[in-house]
Amino acid sequence: MPSIQACLFDLDGVIVDTAQFHYIAWREMAQDLGFDLTREENERLKGISRMESLEIVLSIGGVQLSDEEKLRRAAAKNTRYLELCMQMTPDDALPGVRHFLDELKQNGIPSGLGSASKNAKAILERIDMLHYFDTIVDGNRITKGKPDPQVFLMGAADLSVPAAHCAVFEDAVAGIQSAKAAGMLAVGIGEASVLTEADIVIPGFENFGLPQLENI
Ligand code: BG6
Ligand code: MG
Repeated sequence: MPSIQACLFDLDGVIVDTAQFHYIAWREMAQDLGFDLTREENERLKGISRMESLEIVLSIGGVQLSDEEKLRRAAAKNTRYLELCMQMTPDDALPGVRHFLDELKQNGIPSGLGSASKNAKAILERIDMLHYFDTIVDGNRITKGKPDPQVFLMGAADLSVPAAHCAVFEDAVAGIQSAKAAGMLAVGIGEASVLTEADIVIPGFENFGLPQLENI
């Protein structure tokens, strides 16, 4: 691989485990509409925007809503999600990620955030990690969601680094597809059996640093 000059990070499931809160909030909405949402079904929502996630959840339950009611439900889900997120503290960053971001900073390698979330900045502030990122590309900036490469291409452009010299850290299948479509090195965070299109899959940032990245 060409040497890595910038690292782009997904937020949910890579920097912090907010997936559990998305799941609780979507599941409560589903139950309110009369059906359940399993953890397995919740996997399909990872990396997918709020409104697209809503459509998937409604299709799982076979429920149809008016556009107005969809917006109301999505807003209510987000209020509940943020209420759950506000329980987080800086200790909730996933193990090893802060150390890896420090290592990048010390070596002059810029970091960017590439997330579908419209809550990205608020969550990074909550866990005191906003200052690590030289650019934030979030759900408020993108017009095409993952698996489209836009989110990571915008991050690379912001950092003035060619795509081929960027590494992406992602826990979602759609996010890995987005990174590969952008022509970047895709490091999966999770299980190799799920993230089959990643260049390499690691369980997390413990025991992972620049030497390991350079060896991929
Ligand atoms: C992604 C999550 O990071 O952000 C998805 O993996 C979520 O589950 C998406 O739907 C949008 O998040 P938000 O915070 O804008 O509702
Ligand atoms: Mg994610």
